[in-house]
Amino acid sequence: MKAMLDAVQQRIEKQLIVTLTPLRDVEPKLADAMIYGVCNGGKRLRPFLLYATAKALGASWDHADAAAVALEMIHSYSLVHDDLPAMDDDDLRRGKPTCHRAFDEATAILAGDGLLTMAFDVLANAPLATEQRLQLIQVLAQASGALGMVAGQSIDLNHVGKTMSLAELERMHRHKTGALIRAAVHMGAIVAPQPPTPSQLTALLSYADAIGLAFQVRDDILDVEGDTALLGKHSGADIALNKPTYPALLGLVGAKAKAEQLLKDALTALEPLLGDTQPLVELAHYIVTRDH
Ligand code: IPE
Ligand code: IPE
Ligand code: MG
Ligand code: MG
Ligand code: MG
Repeated sequence: MKAMLDAVQQRIEKQLIVTLTPLRDVEPKLADAMIYGVCNGGKRLRPFLLYATAKALGASWDHADAAAVALEMIHSYSLVHDDLPAMDDDDLRRGKPTCHRAFDEATAILAGDGLLTMAFDVLANAPLATEQRLQLIQVLAQASGALGMVAGQSIDLNHVGKTMSLAELERMHRHKTGALIRAAVHMGAIVAPQPPTPSQLTALLSYADAIGLAFQVRDDILDVEGDTALLGKHSGADIALNKPTYPALLGLVGAKAKAEQLLKDALTALEPLLGDTQPLVELAHYIVTRDH
């Protein structure tokens, strides 16, 4: 997985630069803030997941590039906005000052807007069949918008300092983080030259749902016991803001047990699949054990 993750990181970084640099001709400050927000050492786990799914279904890297770039633009925009003073008010992201600290608040809002809209331009121009491009646009729009990530962020911000049931917490996490992770797998399936059978797609999406929830459970755990230097963002931010999290509701031991259970669910979901699912297996383990 390490070698493939390195390859994904290099590949995506290069393509993001190539896609975004021409924007400097129109409005350099905005373009620089967009580049700052996205080309800044993210782990690139969503692109990894997208490429790994596509490759398990027989696609080449080339088939998946545009979808991976678009997805990482959306994810990075969500982080730029998540860090804004009106949201989580964070000043450290990926080991550097947050976008609104490095630039200013209005520029960070606009950089997020620019990344969000650019993502759909990238998909509309992807070197794929029209039907595939349309499906990618629909899946990403639903996962990132008011049915997905944006809804999750709204639930999050509306429950600061309030108690939440476990079912409500799970619903929030499935939207704010799970939706884009599910989209990574779904988009990987769409770009494959031979579409997956309905049962293959169901298995892949069950895997995605399990690791998507596990991802935010681990993020919540790292906020409690992670190291700011390793995380590249401040630990303790959730506690300081009184955020609803898995450790807050279940305790650290309960949250870790939940992550382990989700790992088992993810691996079980992959079992019936043929093709090379090893990178997906390794990513699931990585998600629940990662330290940043
Ligand atoms: C952080 O995502 C935000 C969440 C959805 C929990 P990542 O941990 O994938 O952040 P980067 O992209 O590697 O910085
Ligand atoms: C954010 O969750 C998820 C997004 C949709 C951006 P968090 O607020 O927990 O993410 P971090 O911890 O700031 O990366
Ligand atoms: Mg947040
Ligand atoms: Mg945050
Ligand atoms: Mg967090």
